[in-house]
Amino acid sequence: MQIEQTLTARKSRVEDLLSELLRSQASSPILQNAMTYAVMNGGKRLRPVLAYASAQAVGADFSLADIAACTVEIIHTYSLIHDDLPAMDDDSLRRGVATCHIKFDEATAILAGDALQSYAFELLASSDQLNVSNEIRLQMLVALAKAIGATGMVAGQSLDLQTSSKNINDESLATLHSLKTGALITASVQLGAMSAGFTDRTRLDQLSVYARAIGHAFQVQDDILDVESDTKTLGKQQGKDQQLGKVTYPVLLGLDGARQKAQSLYEEAISALNDFGEDAQALREIALYIVQRKH
Ligand code: IPE
Ligand code: IPE
Ligand code: MG
Ligand code: MG
Ligand code: MG
Repeated sequence: MQIEQTLTARKSRVEDLLSELLRSQASSPILQNAMTYAVMNGGKRLRPVLAYASAQAVGADFSLADIAACTVEIIHTYSLIHDDLPAMDDDSLRRGVATCHIKFDEATAILAGDALQSYAFELLASSDQLNVSNEIRLQMLVALAKAIGATGMVAGQSLDLQTSSKNINDESLATLHSLKTGALITASVQLGAMSAGFTDRTRLDQLSVYARAIGHAFQVQDDILDVESDTKTLGKQQGKDQQLGKVTYPVLLGLDGARQKAQSLYEEAISALNDFGEDAQALREIALYIVQRKH
C-alpha cells in the first residue's frame, strides 16, 4: 500500500475509534459537544499514524496500537484547543472550521481541553483494549506525562510565548521545537512500539532518534507552510507567525535555509532506522511525507 492509502486507512480507523470512545464522555452536554467537536473535526491524524507504524516497525500488528493512537490524538487535540485561545495564539480557524472557543466560548474551550487531557490518561491507564503488562502500561503513562508536561510540550508552549528574535538562535529554536512539537511526536512513536509489548532499549532509543528528527522536521515544515501556503489549504490562518512576531526557521534561516534544515532532519531520521528492515517502511515513508506535506 502506498503511504497516502495507508494514511487514509489508518486515519479512518482512528476516527471510528475516537468517535466511539468519546460517546457519552462528559456529564455536561456542552462539554460533551465541545470535546467531540474539537476531536472529530478532521486533522491529518499524523500522531496516530505514527503510533501504528511504530508497532509495525517492531514486527507487530499495527492494530495493537489502537489505544496509543487514540490517546496521542486526544492529547494533541487538547493542545490545539489551548494553543488557539485568545491568551495564546488567538486563532479563529482550525482544521478548516471555527476554533473551539469561537464555536462555543472560551471557558468551555479551556474545560474541553482539560477534560480531554484527563480522558487520554484514563484511557491509557484503564482500557482493556491495550494488551500489555501493568509494568509496560505504567512506563507508557510516565513517558506520555513527561512528554507533554513541564519538561515537554507545555514547556515548549511557554518558551514559544516568551521568545522573540532578540533572544533566540538556531540552537534555542531547536530546543523550543523539540519540546513544543517533538516531544508528543516522540511519545507517539514510543507508545506505538510499547503497545506491542516491545521493550528493547536499543531499538526504542533508535526509534526516539528517528522521532526527534521527524518531530523537528514537522515543526520546520509547519513554519514554512505558515509563510508559503494559504489559509484554505492549511485550514488555519496563514501568516499568523509573522503577525504574532514568532521566531521561526524561515525568519532565522530564510525559506531556503529552512527547507535545507527539513531535508537534513529527514536524512537523520532515515539513518536512525538503519537497523530496522522492511517492517519500518511505513515510518520511512511518513518521514518523507512530513517534509513534503502541503498542509
Ligand atoms: C499542528 O499540528 C500543530 C503543530 C504541532 C505544528 P498538525 O499539523 O498535526 O495539526 P492537525 O492535527 O493535522 O490539524
Ligand atoms: C502548536 O504550535 C504546538 C502545540 C499545540 C503544542 P503552533 O502554534 O505553531 O501550531 P499551529 O500553527 O497553530 O497549528
Ligand atoms: Mg502556538
Ligand atoms: Mg498556533
Ligand atoms: Mg504553526
